[in-house]
Amino acid sequence: MIVNKLTNMVRPGTVAVVGASSKQGKIGHTVLNNIISCGYKGKIYPINPKETEIEGIQAYQSVADLPEPIDLAVIAVPASLVPGVVEDCGRIGVKYLVIITAGFKEIGAEGLEMEKKIIETCREHGMRLLGPNVVGFIDTHTPINASFAATFPQKGEIAFLSQSGAMLVAILDWSLSSGLGFSKVVSLGNKADLSEIDFIEDAADDPNTKVILCYIEDIVDGPRFLDVASRAACKKPVIVIKSGTSQAGAQAASSHTGALAGSDLAYDVAFRQCGVIRARSMTELFNLAVAFARSPVPAGKKVAIITNSGGPGIIATDNVENYGLQMARFTKDTIDALRGTLPVEANVYNPVDVLGDAKADRYRFALQKVCADPNVDSVVVLMCPTGVTQPVETSQAILEAKKAYPEKPILAAYMGGETLARGSAMLAEGGVPCFTFPEPAISCISGLVRYNEMLQKQEEAAAQMSRIDQKGAKAVFYDVIKDNRLVLLGSEAAEVANCYGIPVAPTVLATTPEEAALEADKMGYPVVMKVASPKILHKTDVGGVIVGLKNSDEVRRAYLEIMDNVYGYMPQAVVYGVEVQKMMPKGTELIIGMTKDIQFGPLVGFGLGGIYVNLLKDVSFRLARGLTSGEVEKMLQETKAYTLLRGYRGEKPRDIAALTDVILRVAALVNDFPEITEMDINPVFAYEEGLSALDIKITIS
Ligand code: COA
Repeated sequence: MIVNKLTNMVRPGTVAVVGASSKQGKIGHTVLNNIISCGYKGKIYPINPKETEIEGIQAYQSVADLPEPIDLAVIAVPASLVPGVVEDCGRIGVKYLVIITAGFKEIGAEGLEMEKKIIETCREHGMRLLGPNVVGFIDTHTPINASFAATFPQKGEIAFLSQSGAMLVAILDWSLSSGLGFSKVVSLGNKADLSEIDFIEDAADDPNTKVILCYIEDIVDGPRFLDVASRAACKKPVIVIKSGTSQAGAQAASSHTGALAGSDLAYDVAFRQCGVIRARSMTELFNLAVAFARSPVPAGKKVAIITNSGGPGIIATDNVENYGLQMARFTKDTIDALRGTLPVEANVYNPVDVLGDAKADRYRFALQKVCADPNVDSVVVLMCPTGVTQPVETSQAILEAKKAYPEKPILAAYMGGETLARGSAMLAEGGVPCFTFPEPAISCISGLVRYNEMLQKQEEAAAQMSRIDQKGAKAVFYDVIKDNRLVLLGSEAAEVANCYGIPVAPTVLATTPEEAALEADKMGYPVVMKVASPKILHKTDVGGVIVGLKNSDEVRRAYLEIMDNVYGYMPQAVVYGVEVQKMMPKGTELIIGMTKDIQFGPLVGFGLGGIYVNLLKDVSFRLARGLTSGEVEKMLQETKAYTLLRGYRGEKPRDIAALTDVILRVAALVNDFPEITEMDINPVFAYEEGLSALDIKITIS
């Protein structure tokens, strides 16, 4: 039995430290001391074959000697001893293991073998394992410090998961001087069992965590990551820095923790689609963490800037544009109020320049007016120290504005050093992110805005996908499997498409000429008839397709003719009957298809269809999982077909909204049914209004 909830791991009632040592400077000594000194309230059991007492606590020779069940065992003995210790832990029913010891997968074949053995033992006994090759983990709320880190961080709302132990300890040390607090900190190491995915899942439901930060080198289970991360991202921001983006970096990552780093582009697409915010540097990762932990998410992208000097105001304005944000246009009331009170030389439009001689009162007034403006979503306050600047009083004014307008993020850039230090410390304490230069402030707002847009898109996608009959599609697949087939007939594929709201030309299977005529009468003429046989791939080549049938007599004759032709060419063919399909008016020919990536699962492709499809290779792809209408829009724009769809050389534009909807529905279908191995809609006719899928091929496994 596998225990899944990690809450019990980070809040253990009993902890054993295997390799606990009384000798200063040894890892086993540090781990034990960290658990004691962090204020852990549960029972601690040091294990050491040579000691009877360590740090005043009774020690045991082996885990086998322990007097009560153990929730967590932290292991810090040499690698060769670890398999035996894990076996002992399994036997006494330990629930969670942290293996600090290095020297496994990351050192090569021999280490890998040993690691596999350990995982087997864990599985056998239902133990979950963090590591090996880790610093350990910390939960500041329990509290527990099951690590050999030198620093116990401040309590806070950030969960930090790191595949690099060194990075983790460096950040912990830095956090003390930066005032950053953590809810939990986890060193992921070789990820033999538990990985970032498990801890993201746990942190998403952890009431003590507001922001999830990850440093990763690889992802072991792409589809599960997408599932878990997209669900987590709807609850709280997930910010990831993925190293190994360069060729040399990827090489280094694989020798570091034995990571198999995949294509960086796939990671980029995957993060974007599941709503994970990707930071490009460690600085950005932590700036965003601060912004998300301390600021609300703004309603939109309109930014107001208040500054006491022109140059930084211009730089910030440039940044606003570069980061895809907009400078807010103030209402007339705001402009009039600013003009009425600020000196005549002041700029009352955005960026508001309160001038170099501004004291706190001018900042306070400008802040009140700008924050109250409905056209402003967030505010950046810039300050350069002059002889009359009042940093402390101005910080006070900013904190007052934050309190009065809790829904609008206010960030600051205090450009200077010593003179502004007290003022910026006040802001940090009061929950206003304060930087030395404008760019990180604007970049943080851009992160907040992107997150908000992602949430809105997820909601919109959920609403759009509500009209789906998953059960109906399942029943079709079930019948196909019962019939010992993997390829769906055209009429079955059409039924699946109907269940998912994909507009498809009416298609029905007929098993006699009479039935064909009846169905054709119902759908209206002209119709096309196609032989229904999963084994016949090129139906036209065997005389299995007749088009342009205008009445029931023609339909009856066509039925018999098709049967004659097919059995003439392929006497052994298994034929289910003939499909009758309504002939649709010609539209712009497109293709929508699906292919699978080993790491991240199904990708949906879109491109120009028809006879030039192979020649032009005009196709773009997105991961099906977490696909949003915004992403589909970008996907369409990447193709040459987009120019045609928008109305080329006087032609009327095609229904791009309907096309977007169909691509989202195909994505939903292939997500819901991982057993679909291939799917192709070729062609899809796009019209001025709506579209129609003509030929749908679906293969299942
Ligand atoms: N059960 C319990 N304790 C045992 C034991 C057993 N079966 N066998 C030995 N021990 C004790 C030892 O007696 C010793 O205690 P002592 O200090 O009182 O003598 C203690 O466990 C540690 O064993 P030792 O042989 O001294 O090893 P070590 O402390 O030099 O190294 C590790 C052990 C785990 C620290 C080392 O192997 C290692 O992996 N270091 C790298 C860790 C790392 O970098 N991790 C990744 C971070 S990102």
